[in-house]
Amino acid sequence: MDEVIRIEGLSFPNPWRREFFERELKNPVSYAFVEKIEERGRPRLVAYIVFWIVTGEAHILNIAVDPELRRQGLARRLLATALAFMEERGVEVVHLEVRRSNRAAISLYRKFGFEEVYIRENYYGNEDAIVMRLVFRYKSRIIP
Ligand SMILES: CC(C)(COP(=O)(O)OP(=O)(O)OC[C@H]1O[C@@H](n2cnc3c(N)ncnc32)[C@H](O)[C@@H]1OP(=O)(O)O)[C@@H](O)C(=O)NCCC(=O)NCCS
Repeated sequence: MDEVIRIEGLSFPNPWRREFFERELKNPVSYAFVEKIEERGRPRLVAYIVFWIVTGEAHILNIAVDPELRRQGLARRLLATALAFMEERGVEVVHLEVRRSNRAAISLYRKFGFEEVYIRENYYGNEDAIVMRLVFRYKSRIIP
């Protein structure tokens, strides 16, 4: 948890507090994955992702990589693992919000097929969020 808090503080203008992560760990619909590398024979936590799965839909709440180790494919690997996990659990659609100015994250999400669906104005207080969506598959439903 200490490493996650450290990376979080370095990654966001309004970082989550420890209590927020702890609440997510107790939330039954919430999942958190971390990525570790081996450094001098010891594991080092370098990235994490937090998401919810609720009845066929997932929502990515948080993803960050240690600033020292960015642009090495760590986020790509973590997101790929999380998306595969979601799909295995029957998720059909994934949503997330991203700051309009966050070009790195938007580019990452687009590479996985996420599309911009709408804007939530002033979602971050001082900045709009782009809501992005990834649809794994469409299922035909019989409407009664
Ligand atoms: C966004 C973030 C998670 C990407 O992590 P990363 O490990 O550096 O990303 P990867 O090395 O796996 O890169 C995958 C793709 O993301 C995009 N990307 C990552 N960093 C980028 C940058 N600085 N500028 C432009 N595109 C970038 C690229 O499309 C990249 O593919 P490429 O290497 O083929 O160009 C990382 O920058 C981060 O932690 N940012 C702060 C937290 C944050 O903004 N999280 C997202 C909240 S919505």
